[in-house]
Amino acid sequence: MTIRSDLFTYLQDFLLRRSGLVLSDDKAYLIRSRVQVLLRKFDIADINTLVMRIKRQETGDVAKALIDEMTTNETLFFRDSYPFKALTDIIFPALNDANGMHAPVKIWSAASSRGQEPYSIAMMAAEALPNAGQRVKILATDLSEQAVAYGKSGIYSQMEVKRGLSEKQLARFFSKQGETWQVRQDLKRMLTFQTANLVEDTVVTRARSYGPFDIVFCRNVLIYFSPEERKNVIDRLAKTMKPHAYLLTGAADRVIGHVSKWESTMFQGKRIWQLQ
Ligand SMILES: C[S@@+](CC[C@H](N)C(=O)[O-])C[C@H]1O[C@@H](n2cnc3c(N)ncnc32)[C@H](O)[C@@H]1O
Repeated sequence: MTIRSDLFTYLQDFLLRRSGLVLSDDKAYLIRSRVQVLLRKFDIADINTLVMRIKRQETGDVAKALIDEMTTNETLFFRDSYPFKALTDIIFPALNDANGMHAPVKIWSAASSRGQEPYSIAMMAAEALPNAGQRVKILATDLSEQAVAYGKSGIYSQMEVKRGLSEKQLARFFSKQGETWQVRQDLKRMLTFQTANLVEDTVVTRARSYGPFDIVFCRNVLIYFSPEERKNVIDRLAKTMKPHAYLLTGAADRVIGHVSKWESTMFQGKRIWQLQ
């Protein structure tokens, strides 16, 4: 069944307002394929009925589930490797030089998906900083309640731990429980998981209460937003960061804010951003 054009227009507006996701006119097929699972889950007859239900209850379960389906949670441990290598090779040493070996290090993973990214950061900190357990605090946030709950549980399948973790890291930071792997408590203690929406201004106050941050990871999420919204998000991140704090984005993302100013350093052929 095809989606009614007025309902598609409404959905474009809804997704933009609620998650910053830009759904272009040629993406009606994406909606059709992604909602199939929701029609079954909520026992709804067709796509138009589903959209009308979202329209009646924009903060209801169906609305949240649609946002989850549309914003893909694809992630893995140590994705792209260079941001994590940058932590140990340049960022942690620079913070130690500037603030001393005992100063707290505050990090925000701003689209943490199912937790692999913030746990990878925690593993690098544990490997590189002798007193990481006391010094390092990581805030992990995502729009998706489901993804946040998953990360908070710290339980990963065999398939997930095979994507990115070395045998050594698995043995050191995880314990096996039946068919699954559980993140060890000493690593978990560094992290706080919360839901947060990067397109809402309130995200700044919420994140700031855990900051200000020395390092922010905002990777593979800016691509969903319009250029205008991307700049707003960058400015929001900047408001939670210390002067000269580091920002790691997706490899292709250019970092430009409306207000905030950035400079960049090249590391392994990729840009690492620093707030001016
Ligand atoms: C592809 S994953 C990236 C995860 C991780 N940063 C990485 O690079 O592997 C994108 C994540 O962005 C989240 N997301 C999408 N829109 C968002 C928003 N407006 N605010 C916060 N998170 C959002 C999605 O829920 C999803 O978990």
